[in-house]
Amino acid sequence: MLKQREEIQEEQRPFKDWFEFFEWNRDNQTSIDWSNEDQMSSKEKELLSASLQDFQVGEYSEGKNFQKKAHIFSALFDIPWYSRSIELFIKEEQRHSHYLLDFMEIQSIEPKKEVWLDFIFTKLRSLGNLEAKVMVLLTAEIFSMVFYKALREASNSVLLKQICQQILKDEVKHLQFQSLALQCLYSKRSNFQNTLHRFVDKIIFRSTQAVVWMKYRKVFQAGGVYFKNYLKYSNKWHSKCEEIILAKDKPIINPINSCKNASSLKQEIRA
Ligand SMILES: [Fe+2]
Ligand SMILES: [Fe+2]
Repeated sequence: MLKQREEIQEEQRPFKDWFEFFEWNRDNQTSIDWSNEDQMSSKEKELLSASLQDFQVGEYSEGKNFQKKAHIFSALFDIPWYSRSIELFIKEEQRHSHYLLDFMEIQSIEPKKEVWLDFIFTKLRSLGNLEAKVMVLLTAEIFSMVFYKALREASNSVLLKQICQQILKDEVKHLQFQSLALQCLYSKRSNFQNTLHRFVDKIIFRSTQAVVWMKYRKVFQAGGVYFKNYLKYSNKWHSKCEEIILAKDKPIINPINSCKNASSLKQEIRA
C-alpha cells in the first residue's frame, strides 16, 4: 500500500513541477516595454502582417475540449497536476495571442477571424483523443519555435523582438511539457504500438514542415532562416521532443531552475 502511494507520488512529481512552473512563469514574464511604439516601415508591414495575423489566431484557443480530455487523462493515470497544468498552459497561449494582438493594434493591423492552417490544426485536434491532440499541438509548437526566431530577426521593431523573445522562452518549455505527457503514454505501451504512433507523427510532422515553409518562407528568409536551416532547426526540435517521448524513465526536467538560469535558457532556445 505504501509502495503504491510512493509510486503514485513519483508519477505525479514531474507534473506538479510543471504546475508550479506555469504559476511561476505567469508571474515572471520578461518586462516588455510597451511604451516603445515604433512603427514598422510599409515594407516590413507588408512582409509581416499576414503571418502576424495568422499566428495571433493560432495562439488563441478557449481550450475547453483540451481541458476536458486532460481531466480524463488525469483521472485515468491519477495525475491531477496534469489537468491543473493544462489550465495554466492554455492561459499562457492566450497571453501570446494577446501580445500579438496588442502589437497589431499599435501597428494598425486588422486581426483575422479565421486562418485555414489553424482551422485544419483545430479540426485534427478535435477529431482524436488527448494523445492526438497533444501530438498535433506539439507539431505546431515545433514550427512556432522556428517561426518566432525568424520573426525576431526579420523585424526592426524593438517591441516585436521583445514579444518574440518572451514567446520563444515559453514555447521551448511547452515542447518539454507536451513531450513529457506523451512519454507518460508511451511508457505504458508496447514498442510495436509506439512505432506505429511515431510513424503517424512523422507523417504529420513532414506534411506540416512542407506547408509551413510554403506559407511563411518569405518571413523565414527575411529572418535569415533559409530552407536548409529551416529543415535543420525544425528537425532538431523534433528530435529533442522525441528523445523525451521515447525515454524509458521520466526525464528529470526542472523547468523553473532552467528558466532562472539565463545562460541555460539562452542555450535551450538556440536552434
Ligand atoms: Fe504560443
Ligand atoms: Fe505553445
